[in-house]
Amino acid sequence: MPGLEKNNAVKLAGVVGWPVEHSLSPLIHTIWAHRARVNGFYIPVATPPDYDAFVRMMSSLQAVGFQGVNVTLPHKENALRYAVDASPAAKKAGAANMVTFGPDGPYADNSDISGFANALHSHLKPGQPIDNAIVLGAGGAARGVVLALHSIGITGITITNRTREKAETIASDFNLKLVDWTGRDDAVGDANLIINTTSLGMSGQPPLILDASRLSSKKIVADIVYTPVETELLKNAKVQGCQTFGGLDMLMHQAVPGFQSWFGGKAVINDELYTELISELDRRSQK
Ligand code: ATR
Repeated sequence: MPGLEKNNAVKLAGVVGWPVEHSLSPLIHTIWAHRARVNGFYIPVATPPDYDAFVRMMSSLQAVGFQGVNVTLPHKENALRYAVDASPAAKKAGAANMVTFGPDGPYADNSDISGFANALHSHLKPGQPIDNAIVLGAGGAARGVVLALHSIGITGITITNRTREKAETIASDFNLKLVDWTGRDDAVGDANLIINTTSLGMSGQPPLILDASRLSSKKIVADIVYTPVETELLKNAKVQGCQTFGGLDMLMHQAVPGFQSWFGGKAVINDELYTELISELDRRSQK
């Protein structure tokens, strides 16, 4: 058939969410499939938020031969509920962003956690010590980031959140230090890794303001936001000489396990991929 690689079975995967049209995952997987010369098709699948709709969609996708899917908001908890088994990471997070349709039934995993850990790892210099991290925010993303930090041996973690009770829950679940949202600048001053998991800084939201004098060149500042690609927080941190990385890094890294297990090719993260994603975001912002 014209356009398809010879001797290469067609494989289907996708991303299930609501809404889902903003997802960059189809572009990432399409670029990788093209580079790896696999007949992999990765499709956005809009699925209403209720659990019944999710179950119906997942059963249909499995029936038509999908290898697996990424799962995004608001279905990450539904994915864990639906799967017959899950990885320890997904169980610990209470959420999954991957479901693979295996011979024993749907299996849930969480590559948001390994995605953040690998993104951070790619920015660490050899031997660079990280012994004191501060996580800003206390939603599902913060929980994933804390698990990622634990997975790479970072245990000195402070959490802070505008609504203190939510930070208290995560602090007690994971044995973290807790500081008041109003006291965040002191904690930022003491930390060598600062991670924004709040929605502050996202397009249309106010920026996350931190006291620039507490940011120094020895710190790494990360933001899970990727629209805009570089938030005010990251811009300010860069001016202070900090190493920075944004949500696109995590997004690219979280996509790797799905591509490898569903399409069976090599998923390479490089500047070319990053540039393609930025161009796509630019195109969308001009619409
Ligand atoms: P996610 O699952 O992506 O983490 P979420 O659960 O909606 O999303 O969490 C959003 C985070 O952004 C929360 O920590 C939220 O703080 P609250 O728990 O106090 O709501 C934080 N956030 C959103 N708007 C904020 C604002 N204007 N100031 C400070 N924090 C804000």
